[in-house]
Amino acid sequence: LDNGLVRTPPMGWMTWERYRCNIDCKNDPENCVSEHLIKAMADQMANEGWRELGYVYLSIDDCWTKKQRDPNGRLEPDPDRFPSGIKALADYVHSRGLKLGIYSDMGNYTCGGYPGTTLDTIKTDAETFSSWEVDMLKFDGCYSNDTEKAIGYPKMSSALNATGRQILYSCSWPAYEGGLPPKVNYTQLGNICNMWRNYGDIQDSWASVLDIIKWYAVNQDVLQPTAGPGHWNDPDMLITGDFGLSYEQSKAQLAIWAILAAPLIMSNDLRTISQEAKDLLQNRLLIYINQDSLGIQGRQIMKVDCLGVWKRELVNGQYAIAVINMGDDGLPRPFTTSLGLLNVTQCPVGYKLYDVFDRNYLGLFNSETTFNLKINPSGVVMLFIQPASVVNHMKRHGSYFG
Ligand code: DGJ
Repeated sequence: LDNGLVRTPPMGWMTWERYRCNIDCKNDPENCVSEHLIKAMADQMANEGWRELGYVYLSIDDCWTKKQRDPNGRLEPDPDRFPSGIKALADYVHSRGLKLGIYSDMGNYTCGGYPGTTLDTIKTDAETFSSWEVDMLKFDGCYSNDTEKAIGYPKMSSALNATGRQILYSCSWPAYEGGLPPKVNYTQLGNICNMWRNYGDIQDSWASVLDIIKWYAVNQDVLQPTAGPGHWNDPDMLITGDFGLSYEQSKAQLAIWAILAAPLIMSNDLRTISQEAKDLLQNRLLIYINQDSLGIQGRQIMKVDCLGVWKRELVNGQYAIAVINMGDDGLPRPFTTSLGLLNVTQCPVGYKLYDVFDRNYLGLFNSETTFNLKINPSGVVMLFIQPASVVNHMKRHGSYFG
């Protein structure tokens, strides 16, 4: 969608995967979906280095409204959990240099059973969100049929545009239509949405991450060309910092999401996140790769046994490579390769290689030099490859290039 937003994939935080539809503020005041939770995350994002790295969208997912619309037919937040209202919350979030995201559902109800946005309330809801100075809308797709979706998603896009406010528009539409053509029209989606969910919900487990990665690999011929500045495929939230992934598995999710030019939207508890998880999510080189200005989604270029080799072309002749071990036998796996075999051969003076997670400079390589990688079980090795002729034009990442 050409609304000037998200020329690189959006980064931020969202309630759903970790906090779901927890509305029990009486017994669980720190974790219920409420203005208290959003403000707490806003403080973390502003004070703990997240915002500076680009994590700026802070989004409320399902279960924020009252069970009914107000007498004027407008959505209103649950007064117990959002006593100050959404406008005040947006002000708070903006004062921290962040952007507020909100959620609605194209249908009679949200998936969690709250009032949805029907075709006749699209304009009202777009205007309500704009009047609250909201910066992003995730538009879910429960409780509507294909015809309603086909009318509703473009209509909401126009309605948001008509408000005059720049609002990132995230569409769940394709995920409800199987994610593939001919049912899904990616040309149209690219014109009306800034990002879209293609596939099922992520859960806090390695099995779920692997399932998503495999689906994007299998369908990459269709999906890869649809992404670009202003319009991104969304494989769903980052679960690093939660309960389900090991350290290696967290790296693997991050590496593939960076290669996929995916939105980096965390769903975790920034108040209690481990230093280890924080370091992964705040890895500058990883973020640099994800945020590459060309905005070309990467691809799985080889699958050798249980190893998936992924490659993304970056600006200035640079590349990122991720080799992921998808085996479930607990074995570390060796991978012997060369730049030639990875088809990175354009630069006659060779390439400098860096290990993204170990933060190591590995040396200068030409296309024939073979090298050996060892990929931990359900882990990844990620390389950043830079033509030797490129001098450090990336000042802010300088520390990785010494
Ligand atoms: C389904 C979506 O895919 C999830 O991300 C989340 O928004 C839930 N609905 C909320 O009910």
